[in-house]
Amino acid sequence: MRTFGIGRTPRAYLLSGLAFLVALLVRDALTPIVGESLPHATFMVATAFAAWFLGLGPGLVTMILGLPAADYFFTPPIHTWSAFTRPELPATFTYLIASCALVGMGVANQRRSAELREKNLQIAKQAAAVELTNTRLRELSVRLLHEQDEERRRIARELHDSVGQYLGALGMIVGGLRRGGNDLPQNVLERLREAEDAIRSCTSEVRTISHLLHPPLLEELGLASAVRWYVQGFAERSGIQVQMQIPENSPRMGDDVELVLFRVLQESLTNVHRHSGSEVAIVRVGSDSHQVWIEVADHGKGLPQGNQNALRPGVGISGMRERVRELGGVLELNSEGKGTLVKAVIPLPAAARDAAHPAARAAT
Ligand SMILES: Nc1ncnc2c1ncn2[C@@H]1O[C@H](COP(=O)(O)OP(=O)(O)OP(=O)(O)O)[C@@H](O)[C@H]1O
Ligand SMILES: [Mg+2]
Repeated sequence: MRTFGIGRTPRAYLLSGLAFLVALLVRDALTPIVGESLPHATFMVATAFAAWFLGLGPGLVTMILGLPAADYFFTPPIHTWSAFTRPELPATFTYLIASCALVGMGVANQRRSAELREKNLQIAKQAAAVELTNTRLRELSVRLLHEQDEERRRIARELHDSVGQYLGALGMIVGGLRRGGNDLPQNVLERLREAEDAIRSCTSEVRTISHLLHPPLLEELGLASAVRWYVQGFAERSGIQVQMQIPENSPRMGDDVELVLFRVLQESLTNVHRHSGSEVAIVRVGSDSHQVWIEVADHGKGLPQGNQNALRPGVGISGMRERVRELGGVLELNSEGKGTLVKAVIPLPAAARDAAHPAARAAT
């Protein structure tokens, strides 16, 4: 978009006319002080203003109007036309040359401003495009996380209802064979017993995997019970000692909030096991009338420190952050002291807030 040049809006020409009038009035007001000297000065200032702020056309108009005005009203003999007479020619040419220079400078300034505006516009457009891409990526990752949850829930149900049931049936058949097979050779009975043990282990594994994928306790009994169950299993599997600080009677916080906090717990404890080298971990769950939080701390080596690129968030940390952000909360990672602290804070949904803290509702 070119904002300099002859083609200007009527408003710009109106303003340049106004600048000329002001110059005329000011020059008239200055006459008692400066007398007949410098008749062109105020018109040069008006020309500079018009060229600088309004462009080439308005600048030229002010300059052209200024010449006869200075001549007729302020150059002796007053009220005569003498600009192009021999004695006045030097002053006239000085005015014209100086004004042309001012118009030139004004136009150059307009050109620079226009280029700058163009560049700023491009930058703003690029920033908007990046923002849009980021928003789309965020939406996509949130959708993927939801689908991952749904998929986990489906696989957990399938494992339980299909593989789990078949294993149960197999266990009954093998158990029945062993119990009714007193006349079978001893080594066959021994194999049947081993098969029964294997089926039992397999059933328990399938159940554990299914529950880890989507803990039924979470929906049935809430976050506190699911956290206790998960932490116990994690401590057995990893050998890491986990201290728990969970209030006895935690209120229910809504399915979405509880699921997100549970996923934060899972990922944070997995990170403690994979990255921290810590032998202990501390899990705290808490809530007040407005928000609920979960903290997982360890005494390990801490997050990579140094420049901003030192910590390379994988799917784990980004996933936790997106999940928490989607519910209006924040995820904090802190490694200032020894070890690492992960804290997710989520505002309680209105329904959960009212159910958990009826007193707070009554007070509002
Ligand atoms: N408790 C911790 N102690 C030390 N470093 C940690 C801890 N948690 C995370 N980190 C560091 O942060 C990095 C990113 O963690 P994040 O969970 O995002 O990815 P990841 O565990 O490497 O892979 P994944 O995508 O499978 O989770 C890790 O590679 C590790 O360097
Ligand atoms: Mg991880």
